[in-house]
Amino acid sequence: MELKTAKRLRGSVTVPGDKSISHRAIMFGALSKGKTEVSHFLQGADCLSTIDCFRNMGIAIDLQKDRVVIHGKGLHGLLPPEKCLNAGNSGTTTRLLSGILSGQSFSSALTGDASIQKRPMKRILEPLSAMGANVQSQYNNGCAPLSFHPASLCGISYRSPVASAQVKSCVLLAGLYADGVTSVTEPARSRDHTERMLAAFGADVTSEGATASIRPNPTLEGLKVEVPGDISSAAYFIAAGLIVRDSEILIQNVGINPTRDGILTAALSMGANIRKINKRTISGEDVCDLLVASGPLHGTEIGGSLIPALIDEIPMLAVMAAFAEGKTVIKDAAELKVKESNRIDTVVENLRRMGADAIPTDDGMIINGNPDALHKADFDSFADHRIAMSFAVAALSLRKTCTMRGAECVNISYPAFYQDLASLIVHE
Ligand code: S3P
Repeated sequence: MELKTAKRLRGSVTVPGDKSISHRAIMFGALSKGKTEVSHFLQGADCLSTIDCFRNMGIAIDLQKDRVVIHGKGLHGLLPPEKCLNAGNSGTTTRLLSGILSGQSFSSALTGDASIQKRPMKRILEPLSAMGANVQSQYNNGCAPLSFHPASLCGISYRSPVASAQVKSCVLLAGLYADGVTSVTEPARSRDHTERMLAAFGADVTSEGATASIRPNPTLEGLKVEVPGDISSAAYFIAAGLIVRDSEILIQNVGINPTRDGILTAALSMGANIRKINKRTISGEDVCDLLVASGPLHGTEIGGSLIPALIDEIPMLAVMAAFAEGKTVIKDAAELKVKESNRIDTVVENLRRMGADAIPTDDGMIINGNPDALHKADFDSFADHRIAMSFAVAALSLRKTCTMRGAECVNISYPAFYQDLASLIVHE
């Protein structure tokens, strides 16, 4: 696909619903009694995979545009699936659903696409086994396909070696079916949407620092959930507004949960001009509109406990670093290697294609920003939606037309991405 260039950007954009929150609304709605109505639901391929899995376990789910109604059947209301459940490309579906399947009184199997079958599941198999779950990696390689058989679960205090909301949520969801309190302590606090939303549905969940705990067997009741706009999707417009000269844009209805807003902290440390306006709370999540104006950026250092709050935005931040003056160091981010692609390799490869000085490291990368050295490039998405969107933003400012191989993978989290980006381009 040919990517657009832009002299300047103007106007406003409303990003689709948050992916993490959309998944959880389906899952927790299915495990609740009665109706759960979700508005501004993200109709991306990943969330549709979650819907498909629950429909295959007897849950009626009506989907009209970005509104979903889930007819929940309670914590013990799922039915045995007739076939292997398919999580598609979605790590969130695979890992969170594994926690739920471990607690069921029926056997099941769960797999996904080629990428999912390579992503590490040992990180959930270990704590689930410690809880007494009867779960196996079918090829014994620590990856999906996974199989689950009925077992009695006991609560554990799990110290996770990685800051991962998928691991934390998997263990907490299994904890709904355990015989005592389950707690998870992380090296740094990951996104807390599970804790917030499960509590709203009626679960007894508490958080203290980087530890989250849950008591078993609550009665969950259906809810109305309004999904805030996804800050991970907003990140592409934040970056575009900052990088493309003479730009000024408004990004509406963006979730700014403090466990997710690291992109704003990092961008501000690069000298970005971003203003939060209209702050409000919807469905227990902080939301605002973001006013972004272009201007010179400088290098920064990103690491430590900030990483979980911007892990999905690192490809976009790396592109911003290439357009900034000076050195940017991204460290403590080895998790990048186990995302939809190895994002250290795929980001560095694409940065080099556009003439940037980028050096991969064991836990991140170093980028020596020099905007004058950048030039047009033929990019590859490596079938990773966040890589495709990050480099489509880079292409706006690379003057001559760039191309993207595998551009359509944006379907995973943002089907209308290219149209929304194009809508901001000023044609003179
Ligand atoms: C997610 C958690 C993160 C993130 C992913 C969505 C979630 O993964 O990268 O896109 O919804 O819980 P990890 O928990 O593995 O860091």
